[in-house]
Amino acid sequence: MDMTIQLGVNIDHIATLRQARGESYPDTLEAARTLLALGADYIVIHVRHDRRHMQETDLKRLCDAFASKIHLEMAPSDDMIDLALKHKPGSVCLVPEYPNELTTSGGLKIEEKDKADLKQKINILKKAGIRVSLFVDPKANAVRTAYNLGADIVELCTKDYSKAKTEKQAQALLSELSLCSLLGRELNLEVHSGHGLNYNNVRDVALIDAMQCLNIGFSIIARSVFVGLPQALLEMRNLINRE
Ligand code: PXP
Repeated sequence: MDMTIQLGVNIDHIATLRQARGESYPDTLEAARTLLALGADYIVIHVRHDRRHMQETDLKRLCDAFASKIHLEMAPSDDMIDLALKHKPGSVCLVPEYPNELTTSGGLKIEEKDKADLKQKINILKKAGIRVSLFVDPKANAVRTAYNLGADIVELCTKDYSKAKTEKQAQALLSELSLCSLLGRELNLEVHSGHGLNYNNVRDVALIDAMQCLNIGFSIIARSVFVGLPQALLEMRNLINRE
């Protein structure tokens, strides 16, 4: 097993807090700087169509400072592709987005009729030097689709796993995540996972052999309210450490 696993920290909710009062703080750039200095591998942000938390200015400032470390989650719409091409984060993750959802509701549902368009968009991003991830449910056919469309990365959705009601359900979902990770690795895709991972449920996902990166947001930002961002990051790092 590769002993290193990467951690992308989603800082959307730093911006949520700022937007709640319409202030200029807490500053997303300061959060990113703090996290990267303490060993976060990537800073993840989701710029939503409704701009409920992250704004274009956040994306700009973050990309100006740390482009290669910025992982932008976004809907695969034309305006968002333009935004990515304008600010050039190191990577983007294409996610489904629906109005009024509390958070991303699951992986992309890629229908046959949408494939050519998606493939073209992935190609445009890649040609601009942006690595492309597809957020999918942990199903073998979805991983194969990500590969066939030319993605560099597949991010397996851990939402169902994080909501599992019984240990048996959790174990079954972990097996799916594990099989899909192996398939992703065989197809030479970089394998990520995320959504709903927290201090109680992350360890088993981190121990999946082919898993290369975990993208975690809400639980780290929530914990930081009590212990501060550096300590919240350190605790998560210790939990996902395989050594
Ligand atoms: N990965 C993706 C694709 C997401 O959409 C999200 C939520 O923005 C996350 C990871 C992080 O999820 P959470 O905030 O529940 O850790």
